[in-house]
Formats: sequence, C-alpha cells, structure tokens
Amino acid sequence: MNKISIIGAGHVGGHTAFFCAQKELGSVALIDIKEGLAKGKALDQNQALGLLGINPLIYGSEDIADIQGSRVIIVTCGIARKPGMTREELLKINLSIIKDVSQKIKVHAPESIVIMVTNPVDILSYACMRYTNFPKNRVLGQAGILDSSRFLYNLSKELNLSSADINTMVLGGHGDTMVPIPEHTTVSGVPLLQLISEDVLDVLIEKTRKGGAEIVAHLKETSAYYAPALSAVLMAESIIKDKNRLFPCSVFVEGEYGLNGAFIGLPVLLDKYGVKEIIKFELPSKREEELKRSFEFYINKINSINF
Ligand code: 2OP
Repeated sequence: MNKISIIGAGHVGGHTAFFCAQKELGSVALIDIKEGLAKGKALDQNQALGLLGINPLIYGSEDIADIQGSRVIIVTCGIARKPGMTREELLKINLSIIKDVSQKIKVHAPESIVIMVTNPVDILSYACMRYTNFPKNRVLGQAGILDSSRFLYNLSKELNLSSADINTMVLGGHGDTMVPIPEHTTVSGVPLLQLISEDVLDVLIEKTRKGGAEIVAHLKETSAYYAPALSAVLMAESIIKDKNRLFPCSVFVEGEYGLNGAFIGLPVLLDKYGVKEIIKFELPSKREEELKRSFEFYINKINSINF
C-alpha cells in the first residue's frame, strides 16, 4: 500500500490527512511533536472514515521516524500568520522548523517526494530542497491550486456561473505578487475576457491576491485550511496515482520562462516521479512581466538568507 506522511497535525495537516484517507490514497502517517495531537486526531478521523465505509488508514505519532517508507510527504508544520502579517514575516521562525524537518526527511525517507505547504511556501520549498539535497523533481510547493481556487471562486460568484465550468490558472509566487492569468481562463471553452469587463476583472484579481489575508482577518487565530489541504492532496493524488495532471505548483526553475535559481509557481505535470515537466506556453507580455517581478521578489529573498 502507498504511504503518505503529513508532518504537522494542525488545521492544515489534520485536514490533509483526512482528505488523503477519504480518497483512499494509501496509509497516512500524521505526525506532530505536540503530545497527543496527531494520535487524537487520527483516532477521531478513523472513526469518521468508518462512517464513510472506509477502513482505518490514519496513524498518529509524535515520532518523525514514522515517515519511513513514505512515497509522498506533505509538510504543514510551522506557524500560520495572524491578521496584518504577510507570509514572508513567518520566514524566520518557519525556516528553522523546516531545516530540522528537512534534515529528518533526508534521513528517514530519502526516496520520498516532498510537497511543501508551510509559508512562505516558495522560499521554504527552496530551503527544503537544499537541506534534503533532493533532486528538483522531488520537492515542490503547494500554492497555485489554492490561488486558482480563489480566482475561480471570485469569478464564479461575480459572473454567476458554475465553478465546475471555469478553468483558470494562477502563477507566480504565493503572495501579493501572484499572477492570475485571465487571458487563458475559459468558461467551458468560452474565453473569460469576452464575458467580463476589464475594471471588474482587475478588482477580482486584486481580491484573489488578498484571498488568504481575507480569511486570516476573519479567523484571526489562524489562516485558511480546507482549500490549502485539498490543494496539497490533489498534488499528492496525481503523484501517487501517476495521473499526469497539469497544475500550477511552486517548482525550482533553471531557465524556464527565463527564470533561474529559485522556486516559483508555474504549470507543472505531476506523475509518479513528482515534477515530470514544467509546461512552457506563451504568456501575454503583461503577465510575463508580472511573473518576472514576482520571481525577483523571491530570488532576492533567497539571496539574502544564510542557509
Ligand atoms: C493561504 O493563502 C495559508 O497561505 C495559505 O491561505
């Protein structure tokens, strides 16, 4: 049976574990150093799975060595932002957590594929790749699916259309510089730009960029978790089932789109090896510039860190 480990059993980690089990992707190790947290959630979740007719799949543990044998590891541990904070303000504290966890992943699950969820995700994906020394196809960050889900939600509400028919993509870093691509967004094949005015579109793009902060402002004590968890699980599913799905994910670039040396959100094919390919396509020049600006923000951050 495939094994997936979730490191961090907070709101995101707990939901990630449950969604993985609900999709029966394999056995799930839910790990958290906080005594009882993962064990308690796993017990509750296994009982809920029973109600869905699914055998118990989740194992809770305080010992990170229990990630052994995982095909996919989803990293959710660390601190979430509070109202008024940017994701980048989490860097200092979360970087030391990710350093420790990455070094343990390298020891206990050297063949795994890592999906980083902890913020700032683009920078911490890079840190994880450095600390594990894994090849670039085996470390990726979750962000683009989540950001696309927010753009999709905003569009479907504004246009009063089913979200099932909207196909969209948000590229760039997971922060204020993210790059929604309305020019390649369609509603069952109908170009979005023929259905919406530029002014309204600009408002929705800005709302998408601030989508995470909007939720933090409501929740106050934490950030979003249902959509972040499900986004990570869709990535894990494509890897575990070798589905070759095309998703926007944070990946390490070496020349693609003229970018080099950091992680950034791009369209990626995910198969059993992790990142199979970064798909290149022509972006409108406005979006290409936005993508470059977003990348510069992250590479400058990375260059200022003493890893
Ligand atoms: C978000 O955008 C937590 O980064 C995550 O909600």
